[in-house]
Amino acid sequence: MQKKTVRVCHFHKLKIMQNGNIYPCCRGRKYTLLGNIFDENIYEKIENSDIICECSMFKSVARTPDDKINLDYIHYETSNVCQANCVCCPQSKEPLNKEKELLSKINEMIERYKPKHIIAIGGEILVQENAFSMLFDLHKKYPKMEIQTITNLCVGEERLKQAEKIFDAMTISMLGFNKHTYKNEMGLDFDKVMNNFEYLYENKKVKLSPKYLAMPTNLFEISEFLKWALTKDVQKIYLHCIHEFKRVANVEEVFWKKTFEKLEKEIKQILKDNKENIIAKNRHFISIHETLAEFLHIDNNYIEENGFSNIIFLTI
Ligand SMILES: C[S@@+](CC[C@H](N)C(=O)[O-])C[C@H]1O[C@@H](n2cnc3c(N)ncnc32)[C@H](O)[C@@H]1O
Ligand code: SF4
Ligand code: SF4
Repeated sequence: MQKKTVRVCHFHKLKIMQNGNIYPCCRGRKYTLLGNIFDENIYEKIENSDIICECSMFKSVARTPDDKINLDYIHYETSNVCQANCVCCPQSKEPLNKEKELLSKINEMIERYKPKHIIAIGGEILVQENAFSMLFDLHKKYPKMEIQTITNLCVGEERLKQAEKIFDAMTISMLGFNKHTYKNEMGLDFDKVMNNFEYLYENKKVKLSPKYLAMPTNLFEISEFLKWALTKDVQKIYLHCIHEFKRVANVEEVFWKKTFEKLEKEIKQILKDNKENIIAKNRHFISIHETLAEFLHIDNNYIEENGFSNIIFLTI
């Protein structure tokens, strides 16, 4: 079993939600709430809280006098404004009521703690003018601070070039792997996204991680996505699926059993064909959502037997 890291979680990372609530991590467990960014004494609350908690990776313990806040990450969510309309997206497209105020408070917190990394996620941050320009300014002021996002990457040339300047890493979400599916599922232009990806890839400034989000209507295209992604020297490949897959598809039906049998064969063949290349990565390189992995019969035994330990991970 993996050994847990013992630490004071909120002295390493802060996750700021859209409503301003702050937690030590994305799980956002109720009892780990540190306060709200609009609280007058929020810094005192953060610095004087003890969060006792445990998960599969960490054990959060009480502070000792030696523990000082030294953030690796500030991870925040901006508004849901986005140019796409993905069928699976749980987010409404409404701007937040106090968006400017929230951004200004986040900026203040970043200035105070100067984290090593910022993870900024929308909606679609590349089309959110205020959120984007705040990152632009932060990058100018703190060029060594790593800035990351998750994006659909469907933007024009000018914005792409600006984004290339400020982002160190991007995860690119794809809900299909041909232009018709892309248009239908996301309302976006597949060719534009692929051209933008190639542009960034060739320039090598931004670490890229393509992410496929599988759902009943785009399932088989995941194979083409995986074949393509494995031809690229990317940071990480995500094979994920929508949270509600089991709810929207009756996966016990013969239809789905046959579908997943076929897909399992294809995906395992692709992994086999690329085995050497995958093993040579020798780091966490492929992340498969545990629900999708269950459908494909990819478990820890399969991972170990094929020499993919510490390379392919089952995640949530
Ligand atoms: C809400 S989006 C925001 C960032 C950006 N607009 C994007 O789509 O990459 C964050 C991530 O959630 C994923 N996502 C969207 N709908 C989902 C769903 N129903 N279940 C699980 N993940 C979902 C997206 O694919 C994306 O990777
Ligand atoms: S122990 Fe895990 S779940 Fe709990 S606060 Fe730390 S990272 Fe989050
Ligand atoms: S691109 Fe992201 S934020 Fe926009 S609709 Fe799709 S999942 Fe939602």
